[in-house]
Amino acid sequence: MTNETILDALKNVTYPGFTKDIVTFGFVKDVQVEGDKVSIVVDITSSAPEVKAQITDEATVELKKLGFLAVDVTIKAPQAPKQKSNSVSGKNIAPHVKNFVMVSSGKGGVGKSTTSVNIAIAMAMQGKKVGILDADIYGPNIPRMMGLQNVKPEIQGNKVQPLQAYGVEMMSMGSLMEEGQSLIWRGSMIMKAIEQFLRDILWSELDVLVIDMPPGTGDAQLSLAQSVPVTAGIVVTTPQQVSLDDSKRSLDMFEKLHIPIAGVVENMSGFICPSCETESDIFGMGTSKEVAASYNAELMAQIPIEPAIRIGGDTGKPVIFHNPDSETAKRYQTAASNLLAFIDKVNAEGGADNSAVQPTTPPGVSACSTSSAPQPEASGGGCGCS
Ligand SMILES: Nc1ncnc2c1ncn2[C@@H]1O[C@H](COP(=O)(O)OP(=O)(O)OP(=O)(O)O)[C@@H](O)[C@H]1O
Ligand SMILES: [Mg+2]
Repeated sequence: MTNETILDALKNVTYPGFTKDIVTFGFVKDVQVEGDKVSIVVDITSSAPEVKAQITDEATVELKKLGFLAVDVTIKAPQAPKQKSNSVSGKNIAPHVKNFVMVSSGKGGVGKSTTSVNIAIAMAMQGKKVGILDADIYGPNIPRMMGLQNVKPEIQGNKVQPLQAYGVEMMSMGSLMEEGQSLIWRGSMIMKAIEQFLRDILWSELDVLVIDMPPGTGDAQLSLAQSVPVTAGIVVTTPQQVSLDDSKRSLDMFEKLHIPIAGVVENMSGFICPSCETESDIFGMGTSKEVAASYNAELMAQIPIEPAIRIGGDTGKPVIFHNPDSETAKRYQTAASNLLAFIDKVNAEGGADNSAVQPTTPPGVSACSTSSAPQPEASGGGCGCS
């Protein structure tokens, strides 16, 4: 009997709570055969005893099916995590949502909302149940970008039904207010609003809720991290140094909030000329790679400046859905696949945990400082192909 046959059999053992098996995850570390006895070592990342028991039972069944009379399954698992500093306990006010993804940037106008919309729809196109929460209370742009401008949600008792577009559930302050109204709110009200968006919106049992944040590292980010365990953080930046400087603050915030960093999306990275399809450098390209690496994070995607992206945003026809064969759509799809793989990995390693960021200050008093950031200058050039 070859090790390959044994590993093939172990591919029938899915990692509890996931669709992938223990071989694909790379958890099977050793296989030894001696006559009719087989011993395997499985190195898992969860400390939960039920995970250990289920893998042992299922692996034993699969190996006995191959004809082995004695099966020895050794599971190596980490110790249960220690209580982290200032930890009270983890909190999740929307437990029916499986994963939360926070999309942040240090600077405003770099393409967070555009990235959130396109990646959320890409994940839905890949078969996931996805929602998008527009947590930009002051500047809610997601309704327009999703083609849901002026669509009002249905109220059910004291809860609100999310809107739907492109296979994605959506809620935004923009859908609850009249168009053009402004909000002048204190930090504590922002924190309450974020909580209500998670608790009082009738989200389905989503695989992923993508949360489009306002720029900076303030009350909204802290409140979200304290309310739900955020599985993955994405930082959106443009390639210029001034944006990269601010993106370091977002990456640092993710670290401080114990949010696993899925990676950096470099937006407005080069320009694809609609006339000749040549890609040219405007703001720079690839500059975020080093920043990402310094936080052990991936450069998830480089999205060029493309008129179709802006038009898609303004007209509510996202490029990922309406130009699925474009180079940009392909890059968003790759970023979405990478994000889903990252989420699987975080969960296989025990999942996100927000116990270390629970408030030790009185309710409504933030431990983080807020910052606002200027809008970057608009792009002036073309690729010069004439
Ligand atoms: N790659 C791109 N190519 C062309 N236009 C883009 C691209 N990315 C974003 N845009 C456009 O740039 C503008 C700003 O993008 P977006 O609203 O997504 O940024 P943001 O970071 O969410 O801004 P804010 O900080 O105000 O929330 C939008 O008009 C959007 O359509
Ligand atoms: Mg935005």
